[in-house]
Amino acid sequence: MLLIYFISVLCGARAAVFYDSYSGTPITAERVKQHDKANTTFWCVNEIEPCDPKEGRRIDGSCNNLKFPSRGATHTPFARVLPPVFSANFEPKKAADGSDLPLARYLRTSLVPVGRIPSQMFTALAVHDFVFMSADIVSLHDTVNYIVWKPYCCTERGRTDYACTPNPVPADDPVHRFSGIRCLNMTRPETFQSIGCIKNGTTPERIVSSTPLLDLSVIYGNGLQNLLQRGRLFQGGLLKFEVEDGRVWPPKYNTTAHICFANQRPQETRCHLMPEDGGNTLGGINLMTIWFWRHHNFIARNLAALNPCWTDDKLFEIARDINIAVSLQIYYYELLPIFFGYDNMVKDGVITPTGGFRDPYNSDVMPQVSLEYPFVLRWVHTIQNGPLKMYDKDGYYMKQIPIVNLTLRTGYIGLDDNLDLMTQGSFRQGSDNVDHTADFDITEVGLGPHQYVSDLMTSDLAKNRLFGFQPYVKYREFCFGNKVKSFDDLHGSIDPERIEMLKDVYKSVEDIDLLAAIWLEKPLNGGFAPPTFYCLVIEQLRRNMVSDRHWYERPNRPNAYTAAQLAEIRKATIARLLCDVGDTVTRIQPRAFLKAGYHNQMCNCEQITGIDYSAWKDPTCEVESFWSKFV
Ligand SMILES: *[C@@H]1O[C@H](CO)[C@@H](O)[C@H](O)[C@H]1NC(C)=O
Ligand SMILES: *[C@@H]1O[C@H](CO)[C@@H](O)[C@H](O)[C@H]1NC(C)=O
Ligand SMILES: *[C@@H]1O[C@H](CO)[C@@H](O)[C@H](O)[C@H]1NC(C)=O
Ligand SMILES: *[C@@H]1O[C@H](CO)[C@@H](O)[C@H](O)[C@H]1NC(C)=O
Ligand SMILES: *[C@@H]1O[C@H](CO)[C@@H](O)[C@H](O)[C@H]1NC(C)=O
Repeated sequence: MLLIYFISVLCGARAAVFYDSYSGTPITAERVKQHDKANTTFWCVNEIEPCDPKEGRRIDGSCNNLKFPSRGATHTPFARVLPPVFSANFEPKKAADGSDLPLARYLRTSLVPVGRIPSQMFTALAVHDFVFMSADIVSLHDTVNYIVWKPYCCTERGRTDYACTPNPVPADDPVHRFSGIRCLNMTRPETFQSIGCIKNGTTPERIVSSTPLLDLSVIYGNGLQNLLQRGRLFQGGLLKFEVEDGRVWPPKYNTTAHICFANQRPQETRCHLMPEDGGNTLGGINLMTIWFWRHHNFIARNLAALNPCWTDDKLFEIARDINIAVSLQIYYYELLPIFFGYDNMVKDGVITPTGGFRDPYNSDVMPQVSLEYPFVLRWVHTIQNGPLKMYDKDGYYMKQIPIVNLTLRTGYIGLDDNLDLMTQGSFRQGSDNVDHTADFDITEVGLGPHQYVSDLMTSDLAKNRLFGFQPYVKYREFCFGNKVKSFDDLHGSIDPERIEMLKDVYKSVEDIDLLAAIWLEKPLNGGFAPPTFYCLVIEQLRRNMVSDRHWYERPNRPNAYTAAQLAEIRKATIARLLCDVGDTVTRIQPRAFLKAGYHNQMCNCEQITGIDYSAWKDPTCEVESFWSKFV
C-alpha cells in the first residue's frame, strides 16, 4: 500500500505540462493531439517536467524562469529591441519615397572594399570565440535550407517557391560582370509561421532553434535525450571521448551519413557525434568545440581527484556548470573588453570591476535573446581573415587552408597533425583588420565548396530586411538618443568619405539599413567596434545576465559558487584553457586574443595562472574515506 502510494506520488510529480512554444502558455492534451496530427509538435510544443526551484540549470533551458517554465527552452520566440517594420504582405520595407531599396549585393560592393589586411592587434582566436559564442544561440538551419533542402532558388522553380529569396547580382557588378553569375542562392528565414505554429498573414516571428541563454549548447545540446545518447560517458562525470594518435577527440560518427558533407573521402572520416551537430559547422566553431569538450573532462577529472565520494551525476553537473561559467567569464571579461573597452563595459554595467558576486536577476525579464543580437554579430564577418594559417609549436609557419573550406568538414581537422598546427596558429595569426574592409573569401566564396559563389555579407544585409529591422537612424536614436534627420547629422559617427558613399547609394538617410551603417561607423571611444554594434550587443549581454536565474555571478542560485570558488572562476583565461587542453601548447601569450608583443610576451604555461580546483574540495568526502579505512 505504502509502496503504491509512493509510486503514485512519484509518477504524479513527474507529469509533464505542455506549453505552446510561441505564447509560452500551457495547452490542453487535445491541442497537442492536433499538433501530433499535423506533425508540428516538435516545433510548436514544449513538453516540460514540473520545475524544482532547487535544481540546477536544465539542459533544455526550461524552468529557468519559474513563472514561465517554457521560456528559455528551444523553439521559443526572440525578443526585439525595436518592433519590426515591413511593407505589404510582410515583404521587406520600401525606401522613404516608396521605391524598392537598392539591391543587397549592390550595397555590399559599393560600401565594403575587399582586401586582406592582417590585424597587428587581435588574433584569429578572438574571431573563433566570437563565432563560437554566437553558435550557442543560433543554428546553420537557414544556410542548410538553401544548400541542401532547396538548392533551386536561382532557377525557374525558385520563382514560385515562397521560401526562395535569392539575391540578384547587378550586370555591372565589379566581380561578376566578368563571370556571368546573376543570382546568389538564399532562402527566407524560418519563422513560427513557416514552420506551421501560428497563422500566416501575421508578423513573421523568428523561431530560436537553440536554447536562448548562453549555456554552451554546442557542447551539451538543447535537450536531454541527445546528451544522454551522444554525450555522457556515465563514468567520472565525463563526456564520451576517443583517443587517436595521442589526441583526444569527441566521439565520431560510426557511419558515413553525417553532416560533414565536405569531408574528402576516403582519407577524411572524422565528424563529431555530439548532442548537436553545431560543432561540425564552421572551422572556428569546430576548434573551440573540441577545446571546450575536452575542458569539461579536464574539470571533471580535477573534481573527481579531489572528491572521491562524488557520484558521476554530481561530477557531471558541477563540471558542466564550471565549463559554462568559464566560457562566460572569458567572453564577458576577456574577449569583449578588448573590442569594447573595459571602462565602457564597466560604466554600462555589463561587467563588474570588483571581482565579487553580483545579483542582477529579475524574474520579470524573460530568458530570451534579442533578434538584433545574433544579427549584429555578423559584423564579425568583416574581421574574419580568409586563410587559416598553421604553425608548429615553435612558431614556424607550416601551411594554410581557406577557412571557408573547413565548413562542414571536420575530417580535415582530424588529418595528420592539422589540429596541433591549427591550435598553434589560432594565437599566432592575426584576425582581419578592423578597418571597414572585408576579406575576399567572405565576399565571394563564403561557403567554400557548398556553393559556387556566395557573399556572406550580401546575405547578411538581405536578412537585415527579411527580419524587418527598423532603419539605422531609429537604432541610433534608441542607443544614443540623438535624432538623425539628414546625412550631415551622421558627421562624428561616420567618416566624411563614408557618408558620401552612403549618399551615393541611398536616397534618404532614413533608408540606410542597420547593418550597412554598422559596417561604416567609426569605432567607439576607447574601443575597436562600431558604437551601434556595441549598443545592441551589450543590450543582450545585460538581458542575458538579468534574465538567467542560473547566472554564474549570482550568490543566490541553486548550487551557487562560494566566494572562493567565484574568485577561482575569475582566473579563467583562453590562454590557460589552451595550456590545459590544447595540443602541443606549452608556450603562449597570457592575453591570447591579442597578438604576442612587448606587453604580452609568450611565456611557459607554468607562468599562466588558472583555476585552483581545491576551492571545490568537499570535506564530507574526507569523513567518508576516513571511516572507510575501518570497514
Ligand atoms: C515530421 O516532422 C519532423 C520534424 O520536423 C520531420 O523530421 C519529419 O520528416 C516529419 N514527418 C513527416 C511525415 O512529415
Ligand atoms: C504558411 O505558409 C507556408 C508557405 O506557404 C507553409 O509552409 C506553412 O505551413 C504555412 N503556415 C501555416 C500555419 O499555415
Ligand atoms: C554506432 O553507434 C551507435 C550509437 O553509439 C551504436 O548504437 C551502434 O551500435 C554503432 N554501430 C556500429 C556499427 O558500431
Ligand atoms: C578550397 O576549396 C576550393 C573549392 O571551393 C578548391 O578549389 C581549393 O582547392 C580548396 N583549397 C584547399 C587548400 O583545399
Ligand atoms: C545555387 O545553387 C545551385 C544548386 O546547389 C548551384 O548549382 C548554383 O551554382 C548555386 N549558385 C551559385 C551562384 O553558387
